[in-house]
Order: sequence, then structure tokens, then C-alpha cells
Amino acid sequence: MDTKHEIEEQKKYIQKIQEIIKNKKYKYSILTMGCQLNENDSEKLSGMVEKMGYTRVEDPKKADLNIINTCCVRENAEDRLFGKLGELKKIKENNGSIVAIGGCMMQEKHITNKIKESYPFVDILFGTHTLHKFPEDLYKTINEKNKIEDIIDTDGEIYENILVKRNNNIKASVTIMNGCNNFCTYCIVPYVRGRERSREPKAIIEEVKKLAKQGYKEITLLGQNVNSYLKVEKEKGKKIEEYEGVNSFATLLKAINKIEGIERIRFVSPHPKDFTDDVIDAIANCDKVCKLIHLPLQSGNTKVLKEMNRKYTKEQYLNLVEKMKEKIPNLTLSTDIIVGFPGETEEEFEDTLDVVKKVKFEQVYMFIYSRRVGTPGDKMPNQILEETKHKRFNQLKELVESQIEENNQKYIGTTQKILVEGTSKNNKNMLTGRTDSNKVVIFEGSKDLINKIIDLKIVSEHMWYLKGEIISKECD
Ligand code: SAH
Ligand code: SF4
Ligand code: F3S
Repeated sequence: MDTKHEIEEQKKYIQKIQEIIKNKKYKYSILTMGCQLNENDSEKLSGMVEKMGYTRVEDPKKADLNIINTCCVRENAEDRLFGKLGELKKIKENNGSIVAIGGCMMQEKHITNKIKESYPFVDILFGTHTLHKFPEDLYKTINEKNKIEDIIDTDGEIYENILVKRNNNIKASVTIMNGCNNFCTYCIVPYVRGRERSREPKAIIEEVKKLAKQGYKEITLLGQNVNSYLKVEKEKGKKIEEYEGVNSFATLLKAINKIEGIERIRFVSPHPKDFTDDVIDAIANCDKVCKLIHLPLQSGNTKVLKEMNRKYTKEQYLNLVEKMKEKIPNLTLSTDIIVGFPGETEEEFEDTLDVVKKVKFEQVYMFIYSRRVGTPGDKMPNQILEETKHKRFNQLKELVESQIEENNQKYIGTTQKILVEGTSKNNKNMLTGRTDSNKVVIFEGSKDLINKIIDLKIVSEHMWYLKGEIISKECD
């Protein structure tokens, strides 16, 4: 069966469940543990489940169906899952709710074996390649009271037209490609997400146009390697059905930039090795593309980068940053860094600090190296002591925090364009929004401003957010 028919088939299961749970006011909860791609998958699960007739609740105790969408990129995600499973066991004993666990971690055999052995009350296990079949899996659980394990190991397909229920009505994520072919030696993602594959230009453009019509202002394009969009397809000699001139990542940015109603375009994550000049030019020339670019560094040392299989050197990374800074006015950068990769010496770690000092990132996502079963990194003999890893992490954190304070000062007195996202969580009388560089700004203002882009003057900085004031219109 082709992917289109598979999706049609699932609609029948959605209808069958609608019949079964009609008038029962069933509720579901969903917990997402992973990255933005994982979040976007959860929105698809919510779309399917809400179509069946379930309504969402935050408290799993009140739910008839509890879903966890897992991540396995670092070990702490595992501890968190097993903690949650303990809670769901008690809830199930009380109210007989259905427990479904899906996502990246379910692609790991040692994890599913552990769940089956130690948490046999789990009803459905599903993986990253079978998410679209959730209606069928759930139907079989409800109707036949079967335990379901629906996990396959494959390169993966692209499924279009899965229902989606979005978490936010101002900002939307659009997955443009799936999987990863890079095999960085520390990373589990290529093993659990399959090979790189890009969606058709038409499907993406149509989705963004629909979002614009629905009133969405900001679009984030998602993929493990967004700037190699369509690259594998071209290498394989596959004919690309161009749509509105889209045949690469750069042309995709240009086409989305033209869509009326969309005000901001972001994307995560690009890979430095695929940051071609056409992409840099597109960022520079497209007014809606935010000038905050996430450029994962991982390590600032050439030898460590080689062992990580990142395919660039310290100098190449710094040169790329220089080139981007020259070509893109108001560029800001964020990054991901891993400390304590096997074999990393003190001097090699100093190179990471050096790059951080030189580039002055707007934001740094810092991670302690975590051994992942099945990756080459896990088999490397020279693992770093936990204590050393933590020491380096704290050293990096200190540097990053001092830079944030310094960087925040630069905003004071400037005028910034803010997309107003809603009322502040901590103070309902204040509004909150974000700058182009993704900084949170809170300010006083009327709720009519929500979902609009406005100019704010920045008056103070508070480490993780800025405070702003509306610039009053001048009277003639
Ligand atoms: N494809 C994206 C990110 C994937 S995972 C990219 O290449 O940027 C997000 C981040 O998690 C990575 O950038 C990396 O910094 C971190 N990460 C991945 N595997 C890790 C591991 N085993 N230990 C610690 N951090 C890891
Ligand atoms: Fe993991 Fe590297 Fe692929 Fe990113 S590019 S998902 S870090 S293997
Ligand atoms: Fe985690 Fe899977 Fe994303 S492992 S980081 S949820 S792709």
C-alpha cells in the first residue's frame, strides 16, 4: 500500500473509534519529551486523537488515554520516562486508562524490552516510523484488548496529510525533512529516525499558505539537517517536482518569504557543512527570515570535531561565521555544544571556550556528553570522568552567562520589533513577545496587540528576559 492509501486506511479507524467513544466525553493527555520535531509529531498525534473525539487534559489522572512521546538523545530522558511510567501505572490501576508510549526511544530494542519486562501494563508501543498508524493501534487496543507493539526499523517514508492539532495559534512548526545521514559519532538520532528524506516543495508551500490563512505569523521549518533539504534526492537523481521555484533550501526560504500573512521565518537545525552561499544570500535578502541563526558547533577543537564526524574544522566554522556576519546585517547566532566527548583533553576543551569567546553567541545550548548504546562514541575507550565533564560544563556555563549579561546590555535603549505572543505567565498584566533574535521581552500593553508585530524600546535587562516599553505614536 502506498503512503497515501495508508493514511486513507487510518481515517477508517478514526471513524470506528468515533463510533465507539461517541458521547463518552473521553479525555487524553500527551507528554512530549523531545525536540521540536518530536513536538510536531505530538501535534499530529493530538490531531488524530481529537478527531476521534477525545479532548485534551493536562492532568493524566483525568485522562482515559495517556500518551508519552519519548526522546533518547541523552540519558536523562530515560530516567524521566521510567519515572513517568511509575506514575501512569498507579493511574491505570485506579481508572483503567490506556497507556501508549511512542517516539524515538521506542526505536531502541533494549528500551522496549525493558518496558515489556518491567512495565507490562503499557498497552501500546509505537515508533517513529509508525506514528501515522496510531488510530489502528488504538482501535485494536480498545476493541480487541490487545497489547500492541508497532515498531519497524526502516529508512522511513514521508506521510502527508496526517491530521494536526497545533499547540500555539501564532507560531507553527513545519517539518520539511526527516531523518539524518550524518552519523555524528555521539548521536543516536540517525538510528531512530531513519535516513534523510525531504517533503515535496508543493506540500510544504501549501501547508505554509494554509497556516498564513489561519492567521499564523511565525513559521519554524524543522529537520535534523534543514539546509540539506532535497540534497539526498538530487544525489539519487530523483526528479524533483519544483513548485513556485523551490528546488533547494535557499529557494524554499525565498518562496515562503513571499507568502502573505507570514511575518517571520525561522529554521532548525542547519549543519555548518551544508551552509552554502545561496542559503546565506537567501537569509540576507529575505526580510522575513529571522537573523538569528542556530549553527551547532558541538566542539571548538578540530581533532574532537573529526572524531565526532562533524566534517568541519575550528577554522572552517569561524570562517563561516565571519562570512555570514559580513553578508547578513544584524546577524545573531545560537549554538549547541557538547562537553566531555570521549578523549577530549583540557586543551581541546579550551578551544571550545575560545570559539565561544570569539563568536559571542546569543544563546548556547550546553550538553554533557551522554553515552548512547549503538553509537561509535559509546565504544570509544577514553570516556571522560563524570566529575571532569561537570567541571567543564560549569566552566562553559559561567562563560556563557557572563556573555549573556554583556550581550543583554547592548539591547538597552534600542528599538526592537516584537511579535506579541500573549500575556506573561508570571504576570497576567504584562504582555510577552520575542525579538527577531528570539529574546523574550515583557511589557505593558493592551491585549489587542497579541499576534501583531510592534516596535518596543528596551528599558532593562533581567538575564533571561528584557523589559520594554511601547513607543508612543508621535502627534503631529
Ligand atoms: N540535528 C541537530 C540536532 C540534534 S540533537 C544538529 O545537528 O544540530 C540536539 C543536540 O543534542 C545536538 O546538537 C547535540 O549538541 C546534542 N546531543 C546529541 N547527542 C548527544 C549526546 N550523546 N550527548 C550529549 N548531547 C548530545
Ligand atoms: Fe545527530 Fe549529527 Fe544528525 Fe544532528 S547532524 S541529528 S547531531 S547525527
Ligand atoms: Fe530526541 Fe528524537 Fe528529537 S531523539 S532530540 S526527540 S529526534
